[in-house]
Amino acid sequence: MENNQSTEAYGRERASRYDQFAAVTMGDRRHQRSYLQDLLHRQPLTHGAFLDLGCGTGFFSEVFFEHKPDFRGHLVDGSADMLELARQRVQKEARQASFQHTLFDALDWSALPALDVVFSGYAIHHLTDTGKWQLFASIHAHLEPGGAFILFDNFLPNHPEDRDLIEFLTCREIERKTRHITPLEQIIETDRKLKAAENDQEASFEEHLRQLRALGFGHVVPVFLEARYGGIVAYK
Ligand SMILES: C[S@@+](CC[C@H](N)C(=O)[O-])C[C@H]1O[C@@H](n2cnc3c(N)ncnc32)[C@H](O)[C@@H]1O
Repeated sequence: MENNQSTEAYGRERASRYDQFAAVTMGDRRHQRSYLQDLLHRQPLTHGAFLDLGCGTGFFSEVFFEHKPDFRGHLVDGSADMLELARQRVQKEARQASFQHTLFDALDWSALPALDVVFSGYAIHHLTDTGKWQLFASIHAHLEPGGAFILFDNFLPNHPEDRDLIEFLTCREIERKTRHITPLEQIIETDRKLKAAENDQEASFEEHLRQLRALGFGHVVPVFLEARYGGIVAYK
């Protein structure tokens, strides 16, 4: 597989600590899982197929298997170590799960079944904007009519002058969750280093809404926005 800075950042060491790290640094993960659960509850199909792009350790994929037990799940990630943890988490008898180690731009869409739901959690902001919108076009093309694309991700504020404020609010929340053991300045510095190491390339929430509408998604709904972290559902 081609080298990729964003997936190489998720090697064995990082993968083994990822869930703990995410619980502290990536907003209210329990709440985010509940949003996904509720969105799936509104999806009328009981049988179908979902794709999780950048499944990581399977934290969100698990919600699909719990709430849509008769769906087939296709989990994709560019990090073999993250994908292996997802396999350990979700693979159980009677579940229809497949796992694919690939980068998004090498994904063979024609080999996938017709998709009723495509989900991606905190992975697509690693792509360039062109890469993001191309991926959204592939998602749109391969979703069944009435299908949903559920995107949870990191977003830039709509106005560049608000970036400091959003960084401050995100890092304050980390400071609170770690009971003020680490000074805020140090949390901000670590956050910046990690974002550079992972090649984060966020676009604004508004730009995502605009691009999804322009691609022909009939109904594009902002679901939550919590400092840097947000969720959108786009129905075909
Ligand atoms: C921040 S983690 C999110 C994992 C999981 N969705 C979650 O929310 O817990 C981002 C994941 O996306 C994967 N990833 C990033 N860029 C990718 C790419 N271009 N192709 C495939 N996977 C990618 C990484 O390997 C990593 O596992």
